[in-house]
Amino acid sequence: MGKKIGWIGLGHMGLPMAKNLYNAGYEIDVWNRTLEKAKESGLPYKKELTELIQEKDIIITMLFGSESVTDLYSKILQTGVNIKGKLFIDMTTIHPKTAKKIAENLIKEGADFLEAPVLGSVIPAQKGILTIVVSGDREKFEKNKDIFEVLGKEIFYMGDYGIASTMKLINNTVLGSFMAVLSEAFAFAKKVGIEPDLALSVLENGAGKSLVLDAKKKKLLDEDYSTHFSVGLIHKDLTYALDLAHENQYPVFLTSITHELFSSAKAHGLEKDDFCAVLEIFKKLSNID
Ligand SMILES: NC(=O)c1ccc[n+]([C@@H]2O[C@H](COP(=O)([O-])OP(=O)(O)OC[C@H]3O[C@@H](n4cnc5c(N)ncnc54)[C@H](OP(=O)(O)O)[C@@H]3O)[C@@H](O)[C@H]2O)c1
Repeated sequence: MGKKIGWIGLGHMGLPMAKNLYNAGYEIDVWNRTLEKAKESGLPYKKELTELIQEKDIIITMLFGSESVTDLYSKILQTGVNIKGKLFIDMTTIHPKTAKKIAENLIKEGADFLEAPVLGSVIPAQKGILTIVVSGDREKFEKNKDIFEVLGKEIFYMGDYGIASTMKLINNTVLGSFMAVLSEAFAFAKKVGIEPDLALSVLENGAGKSLVLDAKKKKLLDEDYSTHFSVGLIHKDLTYALDLAHENQYPVFLTSITHELFSSAKAHGLEKDDFCAVLEIFKKLSNID
């Protein structure tokens, strides 16, 4: 295959994605801020970020959000490694402003950049069936589509920098609000004494039918908040979405409420739990066990 990839970020999404590229035969090494995760990944890893940047032609980042991406790319530029001709791909969900800034900084140094956030969660990441939205130079995208095809099933080229991140955030306004309304409905049914399994079975064959309910039905029933997509992450995405909406003078009524709900979930110490833990907020509000 010939492409030498450096993968940065081994969180819930980064690890299965990097594994898929490794299993597809790419010459990949990983690096993670917390070195233990790289050691435990079972993948070839580098201890030093500089070494990874030096050796690889393509560097892919999958971090938390704008702050971590800005921080990491500053570190990359500070390594002093000549990055001319290298391709950087960021797959983190970040603010479109951050994507544009990173692109500008890298292009100034003669490197290329693709912004490629993903839709779907841990299980689609494991199966290599994510949806990926990509911004940046079309030719670079076409030349490296093979990488996206290993990680995802539906791949959309979106155009100029910022558009992919914007679309990703718009998607997550739907995701957050769906999760919130499903949790509200589930707690409502419980409150009025409808058997939980029955309530969710009716919803999944009625207005609640959705990817979100398919993914979260069992977790809601079991109150299993083990993390696939954390409260902290959806809160971050909704914060960016609100900022973008305000900037564009676009009123987002539902997203604002959903954002407040996830703020409350964070305030209740649920930040690291799966975002279906927003159910706990509805339970507390209506005094359900
Ligand atoms: N989880 C999902 O279902 C899902 C779905 C679609 C999109 N996304 C997006 O994909 C991205 C990754 O999500 P995730 O669930 O994998 O997140 P995660 O489990 O929280 O992992 C975050 C990763 O970022 C690293 N990191 C954080 N701050 C850093 C910094 N300042 N410098 C270097 N590394 C840093 C962490 O390193 P340490 O190990 O050292 O902490 C970790 O490897 C997020 O932008 C998220 O919004 C997630």
